[in-house]
Amino acid sequence: MDIDVRDLVDAEQGLVNRRIFIDRAIYEQELEKIFARCWLFLGHESQIPHPGDFLSTYMGEDPVLVVRDSTGKIHAFLNICRHRGNRICRADMGNAATFICAYHGWAYANDGRLIGVPNLQEAYFGELELEQWGLIPVAQLDSYKGLLFATFDPEAPPLLAYLGEMAWYLDNFFDRREGGIEVIGGMHKWVIPCNWKFPAENFGGDPYHVGWSHLSAVQVGFTPGGATRPGAGGRLIQPGNGHGIIALAPANLADPMISTITAYEETIRPEVEQRLGPRFGKVFPIVGTLFPNFSFLRASARTFRVWHPRGPDKIEVWACIFVDKAAPPEVKEAYRLAGIHTFSPSGTLEQDDMENWQECTRTCQGVVSRRYPLNYQMGLGHEHFDDDLGAWASNSRFSELNPRRFYERWTQLMTADCWAEVPNSPVPSPAGRGLG
Ligand code: FES
Ligand SMILES: [Fe+2]
Repeated sequence: MDIDVRDLVDAEQGLVNRRIFIDRAIYEQELEKIFARCWLFLGHESQIPHPGDFLSTYMGEDPVLVVRDSTGKIHAFLNICRHRGNRICRADMGNAATFICAYHGWAYANDGRLIGVPNLQEAYFGELELEQWGLIPVAQLDSYKGLLFATFDPEAPPLLAYLGEMAWYLDNFFDRREGGIEVIGGMHKWVIPCNWKFPAENFGGDPYHVGWSHLSAVQVGFTPGGATRPGAGGRLIQPGNGHGIIALAPANLADPMISTITAYEETIRPEVEQRLGPRFGKVFPIVGTLFPNFSFLRASARTFRVWHPRGPDKIEVWACIFVDKAAPPEVKEAYRLAGIHTFSPSGTLEQDDMENWQECTRTCQGVVSRRYPLNYQMGLGHEHFDDDLGAWASNSRFSELNPRRFYERWTQLMTADCWAEVPNSPVPSPAGRGLG
């Protein structure tokens, strides 16, 4: 029996019950209603460029193997053996023609077919139909500008409809130049004892914390401080479907204050402007979250990450540094170093954030604390639809418009029995009301 979370989230009034950050039953419902349904980010095509290349990841708590087969076609399968359920591939990344289970030795081709079973005749008397027992594929797999996404739900809307107006905002991060981006270096993975929604809402709509949480990083020059100045402008952009973008005013600076990088950005600006079209120059997106748990940032660092849920009070962060593929090697190296200094397990800004999300989660354990809702009322009603942006926008950069819409979407999905009951809103509704 599902929990009716409409009693817990009042997106219209900006009140959220703290139970949704700590309750095990609500978490299980999230795995079913959100993570087994939504389009989730898997990786970038540049991470598996050659036939046989693979990476292993997760969709919710389900292990997933993303592999480019020997003919070059990309697949995504549950990373579990069909025999006794052992995890087939335990390597993070690599290249393989076959995946052989470590337990009893069933072997799968890199297109998912079961091609080898030890002692087949003696054990199964020729009665095991190998073609019935291949790896289990995701329901839908698609890519947008090299970003690979999948969903376990065959009824989920097509990826482009799911992205809606967010697609243009993704271009600002991942498709600024011909060839798009590539991932450089490896992947940082670490655990934070926090609920997955705190980082997702932070990247998708919390510019408010920057001038305070990250003040020390601003003061020592790890990140430009322009956005923290009074009157600096900027706003939240709300393209619908629970996604969120934080934007600065176009004149603001967000890039690392490193001459190699600032000179590069200046050089490519005309090309980027032409590629992104007339909306470029009106708005400067710097960070965002694609609902539910894929976030990306271009302030101080170029990083994208997935907040993999690991229980109501734990996440694994999987974070990469990305660069324009066409950038010269010294620029890529400068971005790699800037990323490590700011947004990585040892990064100055990352550590500020982790501490806060951890404590916000931990206090939800208190039964009395939990009686008091969290406040998401900032800028309530102070928003407008902006035709130039194709989205709703807050009137001030200090707003919680995006978290309100994030929890509105969360509520819609958590209370719907199927995708047909979930409104698709490339342009969000003016009322901004939850289903309740
Ligand atoms: S669990 Fe994989 S072969 Fe038995
Ligand atoms: Fe932060």
